Amino acid sequence: MRLIEDLKWRYAVKKFDASKKVEEEKVQEILKAGNLTASSFGMQAFRFVLVRDKTILTKLSEYSWGEQLKGASHMILLTAKTKVDSDFIKNYVNYTAKIRNTEQEKLELFEKVVSGHLKTLEEENRKDEWAARQTYIVLGTLLAACANARVDSCPMEGIEKAMFDEILDLPSKNLTTISALPIGYRAEDDKYQHLPKVRRPLEDMVIEY
Ligand SMILES: Cc1cc2nc3c(=O)[nH]c(=O)nc-3n(C[C@H](O)[C@H](O)[C@H](O)COP(=O)(O)O)c2cc1C
Repeated sequence: MRLIEDLKWRYAVKKFDASKKVEEEKVQEILKAGNLTASSFGMQAFRFVLVRDKTILTKLSEYSWGEQLKGASHMILLTAKTKVDSDFIKNYVNYTAKIRNTEQEKLELFEKVVSGHLKTLEEENRKDEWAARQTYIVLGTLLAACANARVDSCPMEGIEKAMFDEILDLPSKNLTTISALPIGYRAEDDKYQHLPKVRRPLEDMVIEY
């Protein structure tokens, strides 16, 4: 399985080679893979924010732990929708109808089911958490896609999310920062690339019945 080789190759990069740029074609392929990720109801209540501007990356690096953002070629920021309301649901249902040519009756039922589920999440104060969780599935796909394209990356929650929101003007787009994925090429002197992977053996991880 090529995926196993890819996942063994990747590691969470601590230092990128600032002189190396990821080819735009590869960036687009990685994003395409992320966009094919499964999501709850298929609603994609998240957006990718792609930052390639060095000045912005340097500014953002002041609000993140570690050196990654300084040397990264690009950063893919995983953001969640903050306004998953009836308009958002209707827009999604209509978009699905256009692509699948679905009968109106079936769509109305679908809209009702989705709206009901989201209403429950809202009542239980879990809607934001629901939207954030979707982005972690996407993050997993992006990590695998980067590895497959032999592009280095580092998943990061060690960022000041409120500052990222402000600098990138995300509230005006009804988005909020969840995690960052700087991408690029590992620096030769990033010693983490030589460390063996720490993973428990499968027999400790899998409970079988
Ligand atoms: C959700 C998430 C958040 C993470 N945040 C950070 C981070 O802020 N900074 C960092 O250097 N590594 C971060 N990591 C990387 C992990 O430390 C790393 O994946 C783990 O130690 C396993 O090592 P490996 O990815 O090199 O195999 C994060 C990983 C995940 C999945």
